[in-house]
Amino acid sequence: SKEYDNCIVGAGLSGSVIAENYATKLGQTSLIIEKRNHIGGNCYDYTDTETGIRVSLFGAHLFHTRHERVWEYVQRFSEWVPYEHQVLGIVNGKHVPIPVTIDTVNTLFDEKIASTEEMDEWLKKEQVTFYDEDGEEREAENSEEVALMRVGQRLYDLMFKPYTFKQWAKYPAELGPEVLSRIPVRNNHDGRYFSDPHQALPKDGYTAIFDKMLSSPKITVVTNTDYFEVRDKLKCKRLYYTGPVDSYFADLGWAKLEYRSLSFERVVKDNTPGYFQQASVVNHPQATDVDGKEVDFTRIVEYKHLLNQTSDKTIYFIERSKDGGEPYYPVPNDENKNLYKRYQEMAEKEEGVTFVGRLANYKYFNMDDAILNALELFDKDTKDIKTATG
Ligand code: FDA
Repeated sequence: SKEYDNCIVGAGLSGSVIAENYATKLGQTSLIIEKRNHIGGNCYDYTDTETGIRVSLFGAHLFHTRHERVWEYVQRFSEWVPYEHQVLGIVNGKHVPIPVTIDTVNTLFDEKIASTEEMDEWLKKEQVTFYDEDGEEREAENSEEVALMRVGQRLYDLMFKPYTFKQWAKYPAELGPEVLSRIPVRNNHDGRYFSDPHQALPKDGYTAIFDKMLSSPKITVVTNTDYFEVRDKLKCKRLYYTGPVDSYFADLGWAKLEYRSLSFERVVKDNTPGYFQQASVVNHPQATDVDGKEVDFTRIVEYKHLLNQTSDKTIYFIERSKDGGEPYYPVPNDENKNLYKRYQEMAEKEEGVTFVGRLANYKYFNMDDAILNALELFDKDTKDIKTATG
């Protein structure tokens, strides 16, 4: 078979950015091998034929970044429509902004907080401090302590504890502090989900971005192909691997890295020129609703809200967390972290292979992190080539 400069496993953001850079900056050829039947990795979206609404196959994707380099880079592949994401939660039957803002607290606890100072004071009264044996304040040791330090017992019990359990099948006390360490709490009315300076949606969706990124004649994409079934036949000078790191080293017979997965239940509603719910994403943190009925899902996504799509129907996806299935979220506990370290050591020793992306690094990457990581690895790997050619 043909020889390529680069073989790239995975046509997600990480692999596509690498291929695009090799093609446009160095004129090098890449063969991308993708086991799914489409490009785009987890960013893949498509138009639902029954409703005409564009939806994402792997959950809502909202682009946000503070990295100027990434923001500049993505301009090349799409027109971007400014969009500031807002999430609502249904708690005790009431709609409240998520993250927690003054309005969240006023609604849930019948408070009348009117200023930043009052909100700070309210939070201070709620927040829990932890001390070590010598009576010194100490840092949080797990996600329960982090949450109690940030929002106190009441908000923790109402929202964070049950939601975390639904998402991870573990209580926050069983998870490392990093899982809940970034709970945003606002001492104002800012209900935006992200605070990055650049927040936008691609006008024609994400898949269109990948079509453009991969359009160079220097790039060949083969879908429906598992790398491990064809690796012996490939001829490449360098390999970029964006799949799960433990699959790459399966021959070692080590334990597998643990992942949390999601299921998406598709629901179409006819005769609905408006919306099913008040926002594109509505979280359901509690284990039961006001009538005591079990709520086994974490959130519902209604894509019609995004980019103001119109249809006489609507479509939404009920999201549930599960074990097994597609690997989405690394489970951050000590056991997995230590196991990953051992895989990472093997990866570093692997000659001629670069491990890129969220699966290869066993790390949750937002889209902008994935892009930045790929751009930086490309720079690093091609440093000498660029010096040689000036
Ligand atoms: P990605 O998983 O996309 O691509 C890897 C590719 O490799 C896959 O297509 C896979 O099939 C392929 N592959 C693996 N093994 C293979 C093998 N053996 N042979 C061939 N191919 C193989 N980010 C954000 O910024 N805003 C958001 O709102 C969201 N929302 C969101 C929701 C959900 C539910 C998830 C799971 C993730 C997000 N993200 C996000 C994160 C975003 O999806 C993520 O940053 C990118 O998809 C990462 O791209 P990668 O290319 O690293 O992995």
